[in-house]
Amino acid sequence: MGDAHRIGVVGLGVISRAYLDTLAGHPAVRVTAVADLDATRSASVAAELPGAAAMTVEELLSSPDVDTVLNLTVPAAHAEIALGAVDRGKHVYGEKPLAVTLDDARAVLEAAAKAGVGVGCAPDTVLGTGIQTARAAVEAGAVGRPLFATAVMVTPGHERWHPQPDFYYVPGGGPLFDMGPYYLASLVHLLGPVRSVTGASSRLRDERVIGTGPRAGERIPVLVDSHVSGVLEHVSGALTTITTSFDGVATTAAPIEVHGATGTLSVPDPNWFDGEVRLFELGGTQWRALPPSAGYAEGARGVGLLDFIAADASGTRAPRASGDLALHVLETMTALLRSSSEGRRIDLTTTPSLPGPVPLTPAEQWREEAGPAAP
Ligand SMILES: NC(=O)c1ccc[n+]([C@@H]2O[C@H](COP(=O)([O-])OP(=O)(O)OC[C@H]3O[C@@H](n4cnc5c(N)ncnc54)[C@H](O)[C@@H]3O)[C@@H](O)[C@H]2O)c1
Repeated sequence: MGDAHRIGVVGLGVISRAYLDTLAGHPAVRVTAVADLDATRSASVAAELPGAAAMTVEELLSSPDVDTVLNLTVPAAHAEIALGAVDRGKHVYGEKPLAVTLDDARAVLEAAAKAGVGVGCAPDTVLGTGIQTARAAVEAGAVGRPLFATAVMVTPGHERWHPQPDFYYVPGGGPLFDMGPYYLASLVHLLGPVRSVTGASSRLRDERVIGTGPRAGERIPVLVDSHVSGVLEHVSGALTTITTSFDGVATTAAPIEVHGATGTLSVPDPNWFDGEVRLFELGGTQWRALPPSAGYAEGARGVGLLDFIAADASGTRAPRASGDLALHVLETMTALLRSSSEGRRIDLTTTPSLPGPVPLTPAEQWREEAGPAAP
């Protein structure tokens, strides 16, 4: 435990549970500090976590006992917390999106480069066996030359199950900023970076009703479009049609399909780590399931942070859930919304290097050894 990487968690809401479950007891890391605007939350989480101290946000960001800040706050606070961390010489790994605006995200990455610290960002679900097996199949030529893809995320809205859903309906939220990162990061893994986009968006209602928790029945305003669709032109020439919606009821569409000259790949939900990848080959008669061949097996939220820490320790490879990829994802999202409001196609300025593929890594390896797959 002596040289375990020390993590300070800021933001102790719904998703923090999943991260703390993954990190607790992992030999490579130790959660040393927790903070939230709500001090009762930090006190109760610290009480359950041996070795972790409850701190104010400012104390945590300045603490000599923290190497990496894990930023699990709401999107509107992502950039402020990340900047606070890198300005104090700490690495930062955060939930998506990287920031609400492209300017803020660029400021975080520039400050980190100046300080010589790393920035990592969710989603890490795309490092699981679902998306990684699909990527390995595409790279092995299973569909021939990839030509186009579809990506579809439809739900009536998270206010049905989240007790504090306000952030889903303000800038930084909406279906594209909330769920788009899973689909867009996957599409980069599958088809490479995006060079330009055309978008269109709409809004079903101007308010939503909270469905659960102490605020159930309360009306909250909708300040962003709740249905966003668009076309992405990848640098490779492939085209993706994407739909992200909090306005639809249900769908039978595959979350992602990749169509190539000689086959079609059905790709599982990128909000999960696993799921079945299926292939239909030209001339064939049915779909065939592909066994998991790549990715972190039985992945869980936090594996991207472990990958980020292992990459830093190795000094020989880039983290897979990187700030550069998150910046590209954010630029793609902001460009889709700008395209929608300006009625024109938008060229992107960022081109991240392709994240390294994840070799098939058993759960015992990434959960119990000092860091996930090194290659
Ligand atoms: N809930 C999910 O299922 C889920 C899944 C994946 C990713 N995420 C992402 O995780 C992030 C957090 O989501 P959540 O559902 O846990 O939200 P939440 O509202 O349940 O929790 C956020 C916590 O951050 C705290 N916070 C807000 N601003 C802060 C600040 N400036 N300083 C310190 N603490 C602050 C809040 O008090 C709250 O405890 C979001 O970016 C979301 O997109 C959530």
